Amino acid sequence: MKRLISFLFCVAVFMLCAGAERETKNQKEMNRFIENLMKQMTLEEKIGQLSQCSGEFATGPDNHRISRTEEISQGLIGSMLNVSGAEKTRQMQEAAMQSRLKIPLIFGQDVIHGFRTGFPIPLAEAASFDLKAIEQSARCAAIEASAAGLHWTFAPMVDISWDARWGRVLEGAGEDPYYGSLVAQARVRGFQGNDLSANNTIMACVKHFAAYGAPAAGKDYNSVDMSMGHFANFYMPPYQAALEAGAATFMSAFNDFNNQPSTGNSFLLRHLLKGEWGFKGFVVSDWGSVQEMISHRYARDEREAALKGITAGLDMEMVSECYRHNLAQLVADGTIDEELIDDAVRRILVKKYELGLFEDPFRYCDVEREKKITHSQPLRDASRHMAERSIVLLKNEQNILPLSPNIKSVALIGPLSKSQKDMCGAWSCADPSRVITLYEAMQQRGVTINYSEGYDLESDKIVDLPHTLAQVNRSDVVVIAMGEEAWESGEMRSKADINIPAGQQQLVEEIVKTGKPVVVLMMCGRPVIFNTIREKAPAILCTWWLSSEAGPAICNVLWGDYNPSGKLPMTFPQHIGQIPLYYQYKSTGRPAGQDVWCTKYIDQSDQPAYPFGYGLSYTRFDYSNLRIEKSSEEGVYANVLVDVTNTGRYDGEEVVQFYVRDEYASITRPVKELRGFEKIALKRGETRTVKFPVTDKQLGFYDNQMNYVVEPGDFTFMVGPNSQEVQSVLFTL
Ligand code: GLC
Repeated sequence: MKRLISFLFCVAVFMLCAGAERETKNQKEMNRFIENLMKQMTLEEKIGQLSQCSGEFATGPDNHRISRTEEISQGLIGSMLNVSGAEKTRQMQEAAMQSRLKIPLIFGQDVIHGFRTGFPIPLAEAASFDLKAIEQSARCAAIEASAAGLHWTFAPMVDISWDARWGRVLEGAGEDPYYGSLVAQARVRGFQGNDLSANNTIMACVKHFAAYGAPAAGKDYNSVDMSMGHFANFYMPPYQAALEAGAATFMSAFNDFNNQPSTGNSFLLRHLLKGEWGFKGFVVSDWGSVQEMISHRYARDEREAALKGITAGLDMEMVSECYRHNLAQLVADGTIDEELIDDAVRRILVKKYELGLFEDPFRYCDVEREKKITHSQPLRDASRHMAERSIVLLKNEQNILPLSPNIKSVALIGPLSKSQKDMCGAWSCADPSRVITLYEAMQQRGVTINYSEGYDLESDKIVDLPHTLAQVNRSDVVVIAMGEEAWESGEMRSKADINIPAGQQQLVEEIVKTGKPVVVLMMCGRPVIFNTIREKAPAILCTWWLSSEAGPAICNVLWGDYNPSGKLPMTFPQHIGQIPLYYQYKSTGRPAGQDVWCTKYIDQSDQPAYPFGYGLSYTRFDYSNLRIEKSSEEGVYANVLVDVTNTGRYDGEEVVQFYVRDEYASITRPVKELRGFEKIALKRGETRTVKFPVTDKQLGFYDNQMNYVVEPGDFTFMVGPNSQEVQSVLFTL
């Protein structure tokens, strides 16, 4: 037996070396190919590779150029965005093959949550705390998008945000950098798979670098101002994690960072990303953000914008034409060395090579494959799986939920229950006509639906209350679809007021007065405030925007075919004035809760409506026996263990959360930070011991010089179902 093991070990070592050698051999071949190609390229052709042009639809202002086949055939455009479809991309790639050096185009698009088969918005997916499902969602998006000729998605958006006024929170994973890092990595793995040259994987693009999620006053595109220590501890980790997961590209943000636009920010792009972190991929600007350095009043003109961008390490210019119009002159007059351009070109050509496009430029343009894959049932099943797990149960008094299978009639209230468009949410590539709404899904379940519009989305006025109440009174249960329309969250959708309109809330109040069992569904793209509903409605589910399988997923949760397991990835405030409101706040010198002289409001609670990590289940989970065990494992200081028991009436899943507080440190530290979680499935009556290893990752932080440090001392470890209901145990390092 021993000989067999040693033989297998030798084989394994040989295979590893052979693999590494093959890798080096492939690397050498690629470098040889690219260097040879670059030697043939004119400066104009090199600059063409740094230019990205938009296609059919604009996702920003001033769509400088629509697809220009002529320039493509002259090799003056290196990439297209917002063009998809096997046929359309093939036609454009054919134009690129007319160019002197036949350098293929790369096609990119914002495939943010699914492609033609829509998946829940990323914030909803984050609520699942199911990294496997999140990775699978990105995998499905890549399979469908690559079948439509796309090589590249401008995702994952990994911006941490503590401000629900900012409309783009829907695209991210919420407020926590530890969890946001894990989600970022899951999404990069899902998009890129193990082989970028496979025709069902696409390049990821980590955005928006950096700290775009912290605009002043929650206003999109606004200035970002924070200390380096704050950036390093709360905003930087997901970008770095995504890079560690092998992300192929980054996108520079619109905002300034440390008083310089991110797009021309040498600290971010050259020093941190390409220098310290050793990023070998390429950086694309956000839409027009090179030229927008003029609006930032950081560049006098396009020439200076081009100079600052290329000097800072910005490789590809999206849509604006500063590089195209100025780089050649900047080289000619000796302002910049051509090597700066060569570095950017090389980075881009490497990715085109890794995508297999030099080998076969039409690898992703297979019309038959596109037909076979698009809208296929496995993608829809995966979307429904993800959607069910994204739903968060916020309230369930009188055990109204799950609905009994004997329910014969449902009063279904609210136009969102019928809206395919609104279920898609923002940044959707989905085909709205294929969205199954809640109304349709209920029909498919065979219940009698007594529908009433209830309120008008435009005017937010209650409409025909008598009719609504009549529908309610003739039904066994009431389901009210509330929340936002899809246009209300997303880019350039910041809100000064995130309250659900009064009309919607008043309608719920009127319906609850009937005494019928009422379930409110909150369909939204961000944390919203709905205090009246929160107080009056006996049952509330946050269903976000779940896209193509919204209806079936919501019905499966309503009727208990799936026991909701979601947890909030962002704090839900009680009042707009509390924002930014987040769970990892600091003690301050006058901690809240002490006597009058403490950090608080005189006119409003400082508590959230629902805290980070909050979410109920149809069953109950009890936590007991929290303890610390020593560990002999290398790098593991100890293990924290807790027993979790399903003491309720249903099988279910629980996200067991592990928080850490550093009791004393060389910089001020939060009262708690998520440093571990595990989603476990427990049958009724079942108990599971959950273990959280304590390593440098759980105890460390970045100091003000951005060094990651672990300081000996006392720590409090906390475990529980959310960031507020925790049991604690002390630990000394
Ligand atoms: C938009 C967004 C960015 C997106 C890009 C291309 O303005 O800021 O997230 O990837 O333009 O659509």
